[in-house]
Amino acid sequence: MNIVETNCNNQTYYITINRPKQLNALNKQVIIELNNEIKQAILKKDIKCIVIKGSGKKAFVAGADIKEFSHFNKKEGEKLSREGQENLFDLIANSPKPIIAVINGYALGGGLELAMACHIRIALNTAKMGLPETSLGLIPGYGGTQRLAELVGKGRAIEMIVTAKMISSEQAYEWGLVNHVCEEKTLDSTVSKLITKINNNSPSAIARAIKSINAGFINDVCGYEVEKIEFGECFGTEEFKEGVEAFMEKRKANF
Ligand code: CAA
Repeated sequence: MNIVETNCNNQTYYITINRPKQLNALNKQVIIELNNEIKQAILKKDIKCIVIKGSGKKAFVAGADIKEFSHFNKKEGEKLSREGQENLFDLIANSPKPIIAVINGYALGGGLELAMACHIRIALNTAKMGLPETSLGLIPGYGGTQRLAELVGKGRAIEMIVTAKMISSEQAYEWGLVNHVCEEKTLDSTVSKLITKINNNSPSAIARAIKSINAGFINDVCGYEVEKIEFGECFGTEEFKEGVEAFMEKRKANF
């Protein structure tokens, strides 16, 4: 039986991690299923945006599954990190379709790393976030040492990781770790408003924007250079023609 559940609505692919009793901890099966679902969503022509959330009221994802890796040796530990990053976290970060994490509770360790690999994060005001791996004798292994520093700066990232402490949604918002914080009653509408705005725009331009922004964070790649090329490529698309025509005709573009 699948752990990860999906449904499509409004050109959006909703993915729910459904292991509430284990606070949606990321075990091997969840990683495989998320990889499958995200690949499918990327391939589907009618899908413009992807949303990932955790089931239940308590957690988005409380980390990698500690019980699953408790007996691992060094080689197995590196494999867990390498395969997780390459098969899932990089797939999410490089998705041409925007992926939104809805942080409805604890986002800890691999859970916060999952949210950080997404392009946009919306958190419930009661959510808690942290990278507690050093309290387990580990370091973050799903890209957290890199992505947390990118999002909140090196000093704050080091403090969060070496103290292993959790921060509130309010603090996360102040630090730029999450894009929006809302109460439970406005969570769905905040997500839908954001999706509507994204889905009105050119999917191919969005894909090129994500690619160009990501390029700036890769060593040995010049983000400005990628931007110039991708900007030029836009001019060869039907969506550019439609976007500019709609502007001239004073109507909404139909992408
Ligand atoms: N892995 C496996 N099981 C987990 C889990 C995890 N990361 N987090 C929670 N669970 C399980 C608990 O073991 C418990 O299961 P049982 O009922 O079978 O014992 C169930 O979920 C409910 O959890 P708690 O009883 O602990 O709930 P709580 O309300 O008392 O505490 C919590 C909530 C503070 C989130 C606590 O569960 C916790 O600290 N979880 C671990 C958080 C963590 O350390 N995450 C990092 C994991 S390492 C990692 O992610 C490595 C990496 O970068 C790749």
